[in-house]
Amino acid sequence: MKARIDAIIQLKSGEYLEQLHPQTDGLLREMEEYGGEHGVPSADREVALFCEITARAVNAKRCLEIGMAIGYTSLHLARAVGEDGLVVTIDPSDEDQGG
Ligand SMILES: C[S@@+](CC[C@H](N)C(=O)[O-])C[C@H]1O[C@@H](n2cnc3c(N)ncnc32)[C@H](O)[C@@H]1O
Repeated sequence: MKARIDAIIQLKSGEYLEQLHPQTDGLLREMEEYGGEHGVPSADREVALFCEITARAVNAKRCLEIGMAIGYTSLHLARAVGEDGLVVTIDPSDEDQGG
């Protein structure tokens, strides 16, 4: 999904983070592939995972995501809040975020 693994951090740090969390979830992998192929501006895997862990840590039941693109982080948040939780997202773009 990243345009460049070393866009913000050093290449070695980026490679280390990538191998720490290989994607094992089929739907998330599909979203990452779609994002990569269509240039969707989405959160990196570790960032979305951090949001999910943070939401779980505070036992969040309601989340608001401003700017959802294709919903990559939204899905992480939805899993964190569980079936009785609520994730609200807003985005001014009605395009598929594919550029
Ligand atoms: C980097 S992408 C979001 C990635 C997404 N949060 C994720 O984690 O995958 C930025 C998104 O913000 C949306 N956006 C841009 N300006 C906005 C605004 N003023 N209010 C809300 N969303 C906005 C864009 O349409 C785009 O979908």
